[in-house]
Amino acid sequence: MNTATTRNDHNRISPTAKITAYWRSFSSIPYSKEIAEAVAAEETARKLIGDSIVTRGTISPPMFEARYKTINAGLELTGIENVMELACGLSPRGLEIVSKGGTYIGTDLPEMSAESSRIIMEIAVRENIPVNNLHVQPANVLNPEEMENAAAIFGGMKFAICNEGLLPYLSKDEKARMAGNVRSLLLRVDGSWITMDPVFKVLREAIATMFGEKGREAIRPALNKIIDQTGRDILANDFEDKSQAAKFYQDLGFEIEEFPMYDGSYELSTISMIPESGRRKFLDIISNAKTWIMTPKP
Ligand SMILES: C[S@@+](CC[C@H](N)C(=O)[O-])C[C@H]1O[C@@H](n2cnc3c(N)ncnc32)[C@H](O)[C@@H]1O
Repeated sequence: MNTATTRNDHNRISPTAKITAYWRSFSSIPYSKEIAEAVAAEETARKLIGDSIVTRGTISPPMFEARYKTINAGLELTGIENVMELACGLSPRGLEIVSKGGTYIGTDLPEMSAESSRIIMEIAVRENIPVNNLHVQPANVLNPEEMENAAAIFGGMKFAICNEGLLPYLSKDEKARMAGNVRSLLLRVDGSWITMDPVFKVLREAIATMFGEKGREAIRPALNKIIDQTGRDILANDFEDKSQAAKFYQDLGFEIEEFPMYDGSYELSTISMIPESGRRKFLDIISNAKTWIMTPKP
């Protein structure tokens, strides 16, 4: 039986990592262009969302650049320099973390993590980034043993966990199982979990309505294609609103602190892709959106 609790087809979600890698490639995020080229991210994005690549092309690069950079801002706020990124896909974050002296462990499903590891390690070697502190490991977020094995690489050092983009694909039951695994890892090191996934719907909807009804219509075909190809109903998996999301994670033993997704403290290099008339509105929306720092309550 393929119930929410027993599904093992998460690999159907993996190609979406190439869509985000493609959107990031327009930005100033270090190494994002070469990663996207190395995996032919544009080709996969075109296959997955078809013509929507054009309609989404103005708004998605700044939205995903801001999401990536706000997670970095959250990590900096915690002051924790070692990071475990869950469902890392083709994230270049490890290269940045290690360049700054931290240890990074990116984790994803086996196939995705193997592809990601090859590319990230190649860049690290070329750029003289110390590979001893850079790891991309297979770990399913729903598998406590695989999560433990990956985290063991830190050898007891304090670390933070971050993720972006996975939670909307998980059912509520899966979200709870993942949260349980994260909680038990973080409790031991007094670490925190940085994400904006639980409230990403609020942002997605605000951005969709930016261009009125036309905007909503433009976003729908891409969402439907992703729902179809991943077999995951992002819309049904989402929380109704921020307070429902907060209650869910508080009940699972987390304290939540939030900070603005955008406060002008980082460069938003892709803002010029939005027609000038919409830029102010977009900045207002991301300034009102929140990123979460979740810390396990003892
Ligand atoms: C939308 S992509 C986001 C990738 C990356 N975080 C980014 O922002 O580019 C979702 C990622 O979740 C990964 N994934 C899906 N199910 C997973 C699971 N159960 N455990 C770990 N990773 C998973 C996929 O392989 C994919 O890389």
